[in-house]
Amino acid sequence: MVLDAALLEQARARIAAARNIFVLTGAGISAESGVPTFRDALTGLWSRFDPEDLATEAAYRRHPALVWRWYEHRRALVLATRPNPAHYALAALAAQKPVMLVTQNIDGLHQRAGSEHVIELHGNLFANRWLDGCGRCDTVPPVPGEPPHCALCGAMMRPGVVWFGEDLPRVARYRAEHAAETGDVCLVVGTSGLVYPAAALPGMAKEHGAFVIVVNPQVSALDATADLVLTAPAGECLPLLWPQA
Ligand code: APR
Repeated sequence: MVLDAALLEQARARIAAARNIFVLTGAGISAESGVPTFRDALTGLWSRFDPEDLATEAAYRRHPALVWRWYEHRRALVLATRPNPAHYALAALAAQKPVMLVTQNIDGLHQRAGSEHVIELHGNLFANRWLDGCGRCDTVPPVPGEPPHCALCGAMMRPGVVWFGEDLPRVARYRAEHAAETGDVCLVVGTSGLVYPAAALPGMAKEHGAFVIVVNPQVSALDATADLVLTAPAGECLPLLWPQA
């Protein structure tokens, strides 16, 4: 893909002059790592299921072992991937200036690339938590294929991701909004801009005076909000936007 040199230069200058950069990433930044989306992972044994069978609290309460195995499957798929140059470029940027990195991804690839303090709006595949725990929960050694249980109250662990119908984690949402309101450049990478409330953050940033840059090889719903659109895959584009120390 050939990037427009003038647009690239303009984006570089904006980023170089920024004091605080708010970055919002979505599934597209992990595409070049080969991380399958929820739907892409519905292959083989899983192809007969709908997201509602596997990614709601009601489904988990009905069929905990099934849903747990689905998340084990997804964790294994993600563990077989690696961060790509876009993830590494963002980690390098944070060594140069203040970056507030907000992601909709649950794959942990930003952290594996070295980014710290990542604000995860949709949770993380590898961060389980208790469902209806007693507050003193302690795990018994888990039976393979079954969710771990609390030895004291019998509560189950659940995947620490945001399921359909659930609110975003409050602290992450608050921090993401604060990031959107304080960045002077807003860099939006690899998101369709269709899933709210995350999709509202670039508009919020713009209202607070940020210069909005979108990086996406396809047209996205956030192009209308952008001051500048870089039509390119993230792994090719991001390393060109600032020095990769
Ligand atoms: N580089 C940058 N962007 C890319 C690349 C790439 N190499 N490949 C694809 N994209 C773009 C697509 O063009 C699309 O606009 O990434 C975007 C991915 O869109 P979605 O799949 O809708 O992902 P996202 O915006 O993160 O969706 C938000 O929806 O599926 C739920 O919870 C899930 O967090 C996810 C949320």
